[in-house]
Amino acid sequence: MAERVAIILAAGVSSRMNTLLPKVLHEVCGRPMLAYVLDACRMVGVEKLYAVVGFGADQVSQRFADVEDIVWVKQDEQRGTGHAVLCCKEHLEDFAGETLVVCGDGPLIRAETLKILTEKHKAEQAAVTLATAVLDDPTGYGRIIRDVYGNIQGIVEDSDCNREQLAIKEINPSYYLFNNKVLLEAVEKVKPDNVKGEYYLTDVLSLILATGHKVVAVTAVQSEEAIGINSRAQLSAASKIMQRRIQQKLMENGVTIVDPDNTWIDARAEIGQDTVVEPFTYIHGEVKIGKDCRIGPFAYLRSGTVLKNDVVLGVFAEVKNSTLADGVRSRHHSYIGDATVGRNVNVGAGSITANFDGEKVNRTIVGNDCYLGSGSILIAPLELKDGSHVGPGTVVSQESVDQLGQKDQ
Ligand code: UD1
Ligand code: MG
Repeated sequence: MAERVAIILAAGVSSRMNTLLPKVLHEVCGRPMLAYVLDACRMVGVEKLYAVVGFGADQVSQRFADVEDIVWVKQDEQRGTGHAVLCCKEHLEDFAGETLVVCGDGPLIRAETLKILTEKHKAEQAAVTLATAVLDDPTGYGRIIRDVYGNIQGIVEDSDCNREQLAIKEINPSYYLFNNKVLLEAVEKVKPDNVKGEYYLTDVLSLILATGHKVVAVTAVQSEEAIGINSRAQLSAASKIMQRRIQQKLMENGVTIVDPDNTWIDARAEIGQDTVVEPFTYIHGEVKIGKDCRIGPFAYLRSGTVLKNDVVLGVFAEVKNSTLADGVRSRHHSYIGDATVGRNVNVGAGSITANFDGEKVNRTIVGNDCYLGSGSILIAPLELKDGSHVGPGTVVSQESVDQLGQKDQ
């Protein structure tokens, strides 16, 4: 069995989100928040992920149906985070390694932080190591209680804090690494003695300390990373932070983003070196952009778009599920959907692919070096040969192209 496994808590109902969609499926920059948490765990050598699901369990597991390293554990009734961990007992009873426990509603978690956690755990030979954060406004989070020497004594949930405890700014972002045996032993002893009447995972710390085991808390979580998403406002705040991270990474990779505050780029997008993204560009879904392209201002790129190198998309150019080869230019007001466009094609202002016939979506193929005059309407399914010239304002169907071809002969 693996040396290190992870339990991801994702069964909650999330009343504060006021949602019918399971909370962990809400998207942050195009990916469900749970996806980020799973990734961070994998990056610190976790080989098996036990995801505890309850509310909307089938929906959650279906969304990740193609992922093989997850074991879905059902928590039928949401009786608290401690109870959620206990639901994994039958899977982990014989496991003698380390168990990382994190929450599915914390997508800003970073593998670097988990790495600090694992290293500290090893260096201190602790039974439990948790990472903490210091927040200006700790409202809503469990507070870290330390003694006068700075040793951790336990965690008190916000709703159970007295006035003095409410003032504590060191909080629990819910990143824990446990000796698995110690965890399972302790979590069975948790009682729902609190305002909410829930079985709190946070209570295991004082229980573990009471049995003489070593518990270490390391202040390793940056304040912005600690956001647990319990409301729509927190969802949008986390999305903003994630967007900054995505753009930061792209810029490090050599992409120019002229105005980061007014640009939105999906976490799944890839962009090549020396491409310039102008303001008010929205890139959504799996989009691949090559080198030396110029995108925007006001461009809208949707899932399945592949731009090769040196492509120019200007004002109100929309592209969906299409591949545009090197040197394609579509500078103004255009829609290219479900198309393959060849090298050096000029797409005139106001040109569109009429890709939907009312029943199904059809493909358009435009050969290399074609010229589409302003206001061209390409009625799909359609194939234009290399070097085709479409005059301004032309409505082109396959039938009209075939007729022209016959005349040429
Ligand atoms: C929890 C922590 C709190 C911490 C905060 C960080 C507890 C008791 N409190 O509070 O100390 O500061 O996270 O964000 O652990 N879940 C289940 N089953 C349940 C209940 C919850 O799987 O029965 C899941 C939820 O889906 C969620 C996670 O556990 O992903 C945390 O639950 P949530 O209700 O969000 O706890 P917080 O109040 O945020
Ligand atoms: Mg939470």
